[in-house]
Amino acid sequence: MSEFSTVLTESRKFPPPPGFAEKAHLKSMDDYRRLCAEADANPDAYWAARAKEELFWQTPFSTVCEWKPPFAKWFLGGRTNLSYNALDRHLATQGDKVAIRFEGEPGDRRDVTYRELHAEVCRLANGLRALGVKPGDRVGIYLPLIPEAAVAMLACARIGATHSVVFGGFSAEALRDRMNDAKAKVLITSDGGWRKGHVVPLLDNVRASIAHGIPSMEKVIVAHRTGATPPALQPNEVAWSELVASEPASCEPEWVDSEHPLFILYTSGSTGTPKGVLHTTGGYGVWTSLTTRWVFDLKPDDVYWCTADVGWVTGHSYVVYGPLMNGATVVLYEGAPTTPGPDRFWELIARHQVTIFYTAPTAIRAFMRLGEEHPKRHDLTSLRLLGTVGEPINPEAWMWYRETIGGGRCPIVDTWWQTETGGILISPLPGVTTTKPGSATLPLPGIHPAILDKDHHEVRQGAGKLFLLKPWPSMLRTIWGNELRFRAGYFAEHPKYYFTGDGARRDADGYFWIIGRVDDVVNVAGHRLGTAEVESALVSHPRVAEAAVVGRPDSLKGTALVAFVTMKAGVETSKALEAELAAHVTKEIGAIARPDEIRFAAGLPKTRSGKIMRRLLRDVAAGTDSKGDTSTLEDLSVLAALRNDEE
Ligand code: PRX
Repeated sequence: MSEFSTVLTESRKFPPPPGFAEKAHLKSMDDYRRLCAEADANPDAYWAARAKEELFWQTPFSTVCEWKPPFAKWFLGGRTNLSYNALDRHLATQGDKVAIRFEGEPGDRRDVTYRELHAEVCRLANGLRALGVKPGDRVGIYLPLIPEAAVAMLACARIGATHSVVFGGFSAEALRDRMNDAKAKVLITSDGGWRKGHVVPLLDNVRASIAHGIPSMEKVIVAHRTGATPPALQPNEVAWSELVASEPASCEPEWVDSEHPLFILYTSGSTGTPKGVLHTTGGYGVWTSLTTRWVFDLKPDDVYWCTADVGWVTGHSYVVYGPLMNGATVVLYEGAPTTPGPDRFWELIARHQVTIFYTAPTAIRAFMRLGEEHPKRHDLTSLRLLGTVGEPINPEAWMWYRETIGGGRCPIVDTWWQTETGGILISPLPGVTTTKPGSATLPLPGIHPAILDKDHHEVRQGAGKLFLLKPWPSMLRTIWGNELRFRAGYFAEHPKYYFTGDGARRDADGYFWIIGRVDDVVNVAGHRLGTAEVESALVSHPRVAEAAVVGRPDSLKGTALVAFVTMKAGVETSKALEAELAAHVTKEIGAIARPDEIRFAAGLPKTRSGKIMRRLLRDVAAGTDSKGDTSTLEDLSVLAALRNDEE
């Protein structure tokens, strides 16, 4: 299997730093093995104990898990509310503790205590109820990374509305498609948000997307973030401040069933449009709460900063739900890492005395390029733990992170998981696991990943496709409104084992090394994109006949997007046309999907059955020789033309 041909040469090992383990929640390999053994011996007892420890259940659950592949239900019969778990539980003991330490890109600051956050959430929850939002209704959220984003999510959870957050970098078109798929009734947005010194015109995008048709949309709630004065609103819009003005600061939570839909988050698949990953309440709450404490070793006096936007799953699980359920102080920074200067992150860490820092390898690589003088100018000694997520981290970046940011004293947790898994599944435990640069190491207790070969035999040492053999509490329940796609996307390879879409390798110590996607999903600068989405954006341009998009290895972004485009007859290709197509993709999806390179081709190489030969295009894009068998090529001259083009 050529896609798994990565050879492991990394042999450096880093045990937990001296002194870390004694104070950690999990202190030794014995702790880890004991939990794994417990989970193996009696899964129901193990999970029931975790669920009772993590959450307040207004009505206790009666059944731990019902697994009818591919459908899982967890903690059946239980009723709870994650807004209650994230807020009300802390009021008596730490109501005045800062829950969110916000810093806007222009430098404005705001501390929100648990008591204040609770009040804000209750007011908005009441406001949503007043607008007629009922349990199970979908509410869209399209906001910058400001406290209102967390407030909006928790207000939905409080009344049992299902939120669907759309990353503020997505375009009006992308927003419209997601809102229509979810049939959202209300959308919460702001006039804009700050990014690289500019205002992202969120409200304009919302208006454009509604103008293009979102029949289910009844009302838009508009927070005021950027302008000197609040924006003038249209009849279907209401100012957030006005909506909550006369609402009380308390709100009885809706005690929802454990399997009540908490949120839908759209993510890219290998085919078609983005799919709505559905997460439900109980299992998601249990696992995100537990893993936040285990993996980040969260303590009451930590200042925790995960740099993800709430538009991604990392922002859901490890900015909002997990840390707040643990009563942590969460740093929230609105803007770009290099605005106003290349040391913004380090300056923030030093000033807020951040102790736990969680970011993406692509950011680390970008910082490496900027030079170590920027972090060196700041006192980063408050840090005690570092994390990474989203893509494989190359050992050089891992070492740089360890030495330059962590001062050689902080354990690094390389956390593997996905939108679909809801929470971290494979990761070091910082007081337990000896880490190796580039490896996500071992599964968390109760999680059963396995590498399988093409006959579904387990590969104990070596490479293959990564599966999860047993269900876990925070697994996706389905694809919203599309059960077929749920089955086809994750259970087509094996009817009972969840297929991750990733290739991985396991070494002699049983450590997992994630190689990357083996399907047509690419990870561009830590953002997950489907090549099919970008292709359909390209072919929606009136002059494009056909397009194929592939990933090419990139030392900064991990993967760069290369688009091979065939124009309709008679269309002259030019640099200007290239720019026009790139702008078209930005309009259709967002800047994150803009191809890094567009190559015009007279035709695309296809098999006799008409399938585009992507492997070949990947080789062409990467500039490597194809090892593949090209005998099925319809027209070898097409390939030759593409290769010549390259010279
Ligand atoms: O390929 C894996 C990669 O990111 C994919 C999931 O992307 P998404 O759903 O957007 O969630 C990202 C944040 C959880 C996976 O299929 N990935 C995620 N974490 C890692 C990783 N690849 C290698 N190492 C990781 N730690």
